Amino acid sequence: MLQLENVSAGYGRAQVLREVSFAAKPGEILCLAGRNGAGKTTTVQAIMGLLPLMGGSVTWKQIVLSDLPPHQVPRAGIGYVPQGRRLFGDLTVGQNLDIGRFTNGKDLHALDDVLELFPRLRERYTQRANTLSGGEQQMLAMGRAMCLRPSVLLLDEPTEGLQPSMITAIRDATAQMRDRGVAVVLVEQRLDAIAALADQVALLENGRLRAVLTREEVAVDPQKLAHLLGV
Ligand SMILES: Nc1ncnc2c1ncn2[C@@H]1O[C@H](COP(=O)(O)OP(=O)(O)O)[C@@H](O)[C@H]1O
Ligand SMILES: [Mg+2]
Repeated sequence: MLQLENVSAGYGRAQVLREVSFAAKPGEILCLAGRNGAGKTTTVQAIMGLLPLMGGSVTWKQIVLSDLPPHQVPRAGIGYVPQGRRLFGDLTVGQNLDIGRFTNGKDLHALDDVLELFPRLRERYTQRANTLSGGEQQMLAMGRAMCLRPSVLLLDEPTEGLQPSMITAIRDATAQMRDRGVAVVLVEQRLDAIAALADQVALLENGRLRAVLTREEVAVDPQKLAHLLGV
């Protein structure tokens, strides 16, 4: 399990997260929800070691991720697709995927796998990333993270601003990762996506964990989640 225990973190001296705890299981999707500014992106950055913790710990299996230097976190099998994608725009699709593969000793099968999951990326392989559509860029960002063959995948609002057909493609890929046994943390605000994908929902409010709901609790009472999310 990916386990956060009483994680506190922030920027400089400004604390954002206050004692956040949850656990994401292999073969499941945990949706991290909450309004804008609630601390969702801060949470995934803290998991990746991109922000120093002010307290608490992050562990994956026996590994204390929060004790590792940031560059070793991906090598522990933690894949990350940041909000806004952060691709190398001047590099080609293939080169962007190589960056993911280098972390994993250039695993050729991983590349085949990604190109099978996203045939669009095969078609656009030699095209520069900044010439792709938003949805294709998101596929590339996900593909880059998947080249690592991650055991844990952190996706920060991967369908933000995409057209419906692309949203479907990204959601299908997310579900496939789950089915392969990956522990997925999906930052997501849309109720329909949460209802369709979440095995658990961790709800943040002002940097604190407001509630953790199971799939069953969401199914029985969708209004409860809507109310908690304030939509
Ligand atoms: N780089 C930063 N420096 C200082 N404060 C930040 C920075 N990034 C985010 N914050 C603040 O941290 C809080 C949580 O932000 P964030 O984690 O991005 O929220 P969310 O992803 O849920 O919308 C907000 O109050 C935001 O203003
Ligand atoms: Mg965010």
